[in-house]
Parts: sequence; C-alpha cells; structure tokens
Amino acid sequence: MASMLGRVFVQQTPRPSAGNSLYSRILNSPKLKTSLRATSTDRKAGTSTIGGGSSSSSGGKQQKIDTNPPRGTRDFPPDEKRLQNWLFGEFEQVSRTFGFEQIDFPVLESEELFVRKAGEEITEQLYNFEDKGGRRVSLRPELTPSLARLALQKGKGLPLPTKWFAIGQCWRYERATRGRRREHYQWNMDIIGVQGVEAEAELLAAITQFFAGVGLTSSDVGIKVSSRKVLQQVLETCGLENDAFGPVCIMVDKMDKLPREKVVDGLRDLGIPDNTAEKILSALEVKDVSDLEGLLGSDNEAVMDLKRVFELAKSYGYDDYLVFDASVVRGLAYYTGIVFEGFDRAGNLRAICGGGRYDKLLETFGGENHPCVGFGFGDAVIVELLSDKGLLPSIGHSVDDLVVAMDVDLHSVGCRVASKLRSQGKRVDLVLESGKKMKWAFKQAERCGASRLVLVAPDEWEKGLVRVKDLQTREEQDIPFESI
Ligand code: HAM
Repeated sequence: MASMLGRVFVQQTPRPSAGNSLYSRILNSPKLKTSLRATSTDRKAGTSTIGGGSSSSSGGKQQKIDTNPPRGTRDFPPDEKRLQNWLFGEFEQVSRTFGFEQIDFPVLESEELFVRKAGEEITEQLYNFEDKGGRRVSLRPELTPSLARLALQKGKGLPLPTKWFAIGQCWRYERATRGRRREHYQWNMDIIGVQGVEAEAELLAAITQFFAGVGLTSSDVGIKVSSRKVLQQVLETCGLENDAFGPVCIMVDKMDKLPREKVVDGLRDLGIPDNTAEKILSALEVKDVSDLEGLLGSDNEAVMDLKRVFELAKSYGYDDYLVFDASVVRGLAYYTGIVFEGFDRAGNLRAICGGGRYDKLLETFGGENHPCVGFGFGDAVIVELLSDKGLLPSIGHSVDDLVVAMDVDLHSVGCRVASKLRSQGKRVDLVLESGKKMKWAFKQAERCGASRLVLVAPDEWEKGLVRVKDLQTREEQDIPFESI
C-alpha cells in the first residue's frame, strides 16, 4: 500500500462543527469521502493564520481562522469531554479491578521506536518529523513500543510479573472512516513476565468485563482468537526462515482487504513459493480448534495454547464472547503467539480492540527478553457501537449549588458563602455578574444543573441569613451563614 504521508484528503463542503455530534460523528460525514493527492495544505480552502502571515483585504481586519480542528482530529467540548471521562473511568475501573497499575509516556517519542521493516501500515502512517535539535521524532501511533522502552529502562528493577495499564492519545496519519481517525485514545493493558496463556485469558477477562459493564452482551460483540504459531508451524514445515515470519503475517493480515491472488502475489514477493502460500492460506481457513488439531496435531503449541485459553474462558465465564478464527493474524509485526480482535457481531464496524502476545519485542530493542502480552482498545469504535445500541449514558453538567448575590454590594458575601460551601466539598458555581433578576437566577440554576439555589439578598443578609432553595422539592429556607 502506498504511503499516506503527503496525501491530503480535501473535503469539498464545510465540515460539521466538531461539537455538534456525539463524540465521534465528526468524521463520518460522506463529505469526507473525497480524496485528492495534493501538496497544498489543509488550510488552502480560504483560511488565514492568526496574527499576520496572510494579508487581509478588509482594511486591517483579520480574516476569521478555520475553527475546525486539524483534519481527522477532534475537539472535546464539555458534553464530549464528559462522555470521554465516563469511558476512561470504565477503562480505569476494569484495570484496577484486575490489579493493574497505571502508567503513561510522552506522546512524542524517538522515531526509531516505531520504525520496523515488516511493511506494516502503522509505520507508513507515522506523524514523524525532525525537531529543532535535528532529532527524528514521532507522535506515538501506539503505546506498546513506549511500554517496552519503559520496561527496558527499569531493567532488573522491573518486578515480574508486571501488570500495567495506560490510556493515551495515539496519532496515525490514516484515512478517516467510521471509527478511524488521525488521533484516537487507546486503553492498553499489558502483562510482562508471564509465559503461559493464563495471561491472555486474564486480559480477555478484562475486556469482556468491560463489555458486560457497559451493557454489551456476547450477542452484540465477540472476540476472535487465534495464534500466530499456526502460521509459524506452516512456515517451519515448509522449511522457511524465521525472519520471514513478521512480513508474512503482515501480508496475510491483508486477506480481508485484498483478493486472494494479491495476497499470494505479495507472499511471492517475500520469497514464499505459491504452493506454500496456498498452504498458509488454507490453514487460516480452519474454523474450529479441533480441525486445527487434526491439521497440526495435538502436541502443536498453537493448538495447546488455544485449547487452554478456551478452557480458561469457560472457568472465568466469558467463553460465549470468544470465537476461534484462524484468519486473525493482526497487522503488527511483533506478535508471536495468541492474537485476538474484538468485533461487533452485526459486522458494521472495524475492530473494537486488538492484542496478543509479543515475546520478542524487548529483544528487538536490544534488551533482555521477557514474555509480554497486551491489548489496545480504541475510544472511537466503542462509542459508535454504544451509540448505535443506545447504550451511551446521558451525562449532564451539574453542580450542587448556584450562589447568587442579588446586589452588587453583596458580591463579597457571595464569595464567602461560596468558599464556605466549597470547603465542605460541594461543587459550587458562583455568579460573577451583578444585577441579575430572580428569573435569570432560576434559569441559570437549571442550565448548570444545580440542586440548590443559594441567594444572598439584602433584607435577609441584614439578619445574617442566606436563602437556600432546594430545586427538587422547591422548599425554601433562610439559614444563618454559620449554619450553611
Ligand atoms: P492496533 O490493533 O493497531 O493495536 O490498535 C488497537 C486498537 O486501537 C484498535 O482495535 C482500534 O480500536 C484502535 N485504533 C487503532 N487505530 C485507530 C485509529 N486510527 N482510529 C481510531 N481507533 C484506532 C495496537 O495498537 C497494539 N499496540 C495493541 C497492543 C497493546 N498489543 C499489545 N499491547
């Protein structure tokens, strides 16, 4: 596939405003479908820079900036941010329930961390550049290489096993489609230092616990599971070198996007003879673990691993979510064993999440090897799915109290009242403008989702009282300042 760097997708009509939709609708407009190879910038369509740079014909008045965020990226106005906080809260809660510790890394990393030679899409989509010090850097397209870097940095000090989770923004210069964009957030859970597929089973338990927690049943979503060791076995049987493994996996992963002949062509380019290519592709058509056992034998590692994962899934009680699918190999070069991918059963969306075992990544970074397994779970597809199924919570803005001083001279009293309430842990919105009428105060209380309206009015304050109105019960009380 040709590099997407340098390719700009030009929309022909204005984009909808970033805030007018639920979290991720922004980019799904058919208006985004038109793509042109162009060298002009995204801003060509009639916008200018702030504070000069472009001349203005309207007598010194600056032309309005493009208020859209850069193509493929999102703003998070309050309603979208509340939803994101809710989602991240679910991610975090599941991770903590499983005893994982949170980590994070810089969004900007050294480019070399992400450059791999296996022909992965992800490396073609890097947001990479040279910084002012002449260093090659890149916005991270995923979190796994940073996690590996951190594990290596800890060296012998890394307690094994390590269970880490992270929620971070990733950048990929890819074509925006439903649920795919140029920045997304990923929830990752990774286990370092566990050799057995008990680790995979635990991670799958976390994903399915998340699904169940947000109301997605096993008839809504599933997780396809396979093992790259199936491919490895076929390659070994055909006497092929080990270093062909990564690129072959990447090529085979394109099977659902390319016609079979193209995949065979691609494999031939990698030095795989056509009859071996056919063997590989046939092995990936197997739909049952027992058929795989028939093909590879019961002492084959892939077969044993898969049988164990399915057995453990039964013990955890999430086996109804799992589906064996030998065609899942995943598009990242570093996976070495079990791989898995979350999908919506209706088949409308791209992968919900994906992960697997990557036992050799630390070694490729020049460090001591530790077995690793993990997954990445994006924020975009899941929100689409939850929205389609009416499972997104409606989370409004709310505060406990709205404090209004009814007279300009009483604003300082309003500040005292608000401070007192805030010191009690209440969320308090203090009206900063003076001279507001009662009708406005009630409207404002509704707008900010206040439970109580706290009024500082001249007559009451003369007696040291503050009027507190419960907006649910409509009950009103004059309370001494000391007792509020
Ligand atoms: P990945 O399959 O490339 O794996 O991405 C994981 C998930 O991130 C995808 O299933 C999808 O939910 C989301 N995602 C990826 N790209 C985009 C995009 N352009 N827009 C929206 N969502 C996206 C990895 O990144 C591995 N590092 C996961 C991993 C962690 N493996 C082991 N540990």
